[in-house]
Amino acid sequence: MENVLHIDLNKAISEIDDRLYGSFVEHLGRAVYGGVYEPTHPTADEDGFRGDTAALVRELGVPVIRYPGGNFVSGYRWEDGTGDKAKRPRRMELAWQTIETNEVGVDEFQKWTRKVGAELMMAVNLGTRGPEEARDLVEYCNGTLDTHFAEMRRNNGFEEPFGVKLWCLGNEMDGEWQICHKDAREYARAAREAAKMMKWTDDSIELVACGSSHANMPTFGTWEETVLRECYDVVDYLSLHSYYGNPDNDTAKFLACSLDMDAFIKQVAAICDRIQAELGQERKMMLSFDEWNVWFHSNEQDKEIPKWSIAPPQLEDVYNLEDALVVGCLLMTLMKNADRVKIGCLAQLVNVIAPIMTENGGRVWRQTIYYPYLHALQYGHGVALDVKCDCETYAAGEHARVPYIETAAVYNAERGEVVVFAVNRDLENALPLRVELENASLIEHIVVTSEHVTDINTADEEKVFPTPGKTENGVSVLPPKSWNVIRYKI
Ligand code: AHR
Repeated sequence: MENVLHIDLNKAISEIDDRLYGSFVEHLGRAVYGGVYEPTHPTADEDGFRGDTAALVRELGVPVIRYPGGNFVSGYRWEDGTGDKAKRPRRMELAWQTIETNEVGVDEFQKWTRKVGAELMMAVNLGTRGPEEARDLVEYCNGTLDTHFAEMRRNNGFEEPFGVKLWCLGNEMDGEWQICHKDAREYARAAREAAKMMKWTDDSIELVACGSSHANMPTFGTWEETVLRECYDVVDYLSLHSYYGNPDNDTAKFLACSLDMDAFIKQVAAICDRIQAELGQERKMMLSFDEWNVWFHSNEQDKEIPKWSIAPPQLEDVYNLEDALVVGCLLMTLMKNADRVKIGCLAQLVNVIAPIMTENGGRVWRQTIYYPYLHALQYGHGVALDVKCDCETYAAGEHARVPYIETAAVYNAERGEVVVFAVNRDLENALPLRVELENASLIEHIVVTSEHVTDINTADEEKVFPTPGKTENGVSVLPPKSWNVIRYKI
């Protein structure tokens, strides 16, 4: 069979929301301390932020960053991270069993997001805390009146409001691992009341309610129904989380996990639509896939980390080529569901299951997954097109028909460009792909591949990085196990 990608500019899925390619920084491991913030680092700026890390985050152009958790947020007192640093408490942090020094909090992090050109997406604690503390934080961040928490912000040196628009109503509250986990009914009630109070404090904010922590949760489905029935009219998005791994060392199956992500999104969207109809709501519920990535490499090493240390090297997955291909497939899946998924957060950004790695006091480098993420950020803006790809398939795990070539295409009218993204899942063979697109001339073809799927990048050597690809007469050669970006001028 000839591999053909049929592209029709009139067949749009949706405009892609720029926030689809967001990220996430949690108070966990060395994400903040040693990653984003290290006052003694040679590149540190006047606020203690690492200049080398900030430069890579700027290079990526991350639009939105979720903060401060994650599991961390469910035990967090936000006031701990405000005001005079000398007076901030050290706390036992129960989610990750470390010591939190609170040197960085919302005061500092909002400053950092401005410096790197990102919007802040704030999560509130609906574990140990509730609606009142959540609305207090909204007032602290966004308040403009002469009232207690807005005044507290001003006294801390921030005359202007932070203007945080996007808020998560807790984190993974369906999970038993969560500090003060709740059942669906308990969560839904707390989320509704928090949502009302937060929006009464600032009616310009948008809210994300917790969906399921992953598609295999025993409560998946009923959780969404309960939360939506209670909160539909007061929230703007429902969240999804999912992490993927290759513990059985079955690359063909691992590369197919984007099909699971696709099914998960479609199932959640269907539940939303059913509850929308049941409630007679006019507005479609949109989705926030605010934690997704590959996460499994560090599971064993994390068991060795002693408890109650400060910023230990937790969740430091070292990513290889196959992980980069999976991240590429997952990014394409988000693009192809851009009509429902408006916000996406690659979890996470620095050191903790991250595209950017640092040494304390030392170097910074780009992990393999950095590159597909960078390319989506650079070229994945515009309208996601409903393309059709003819190619052979293979069977893997529960999937009978996994396409050897995963594709997505985005039309950017402003630039006059159509960008094709493609992963060749064939581990042995290069595959030719003919792109059927009228009046198109090639700008460039970028390839990311390497000799072995296990090749990694380190501070000393980068094995997985972009190189020019081969496209002639509309036919691109997709090397075995490769990520491809093919840009056309139209
Ligand atoms: O990103 C790491 C953790 O994964 C987050 O804290 C949590 O929300 C999820 O389980």
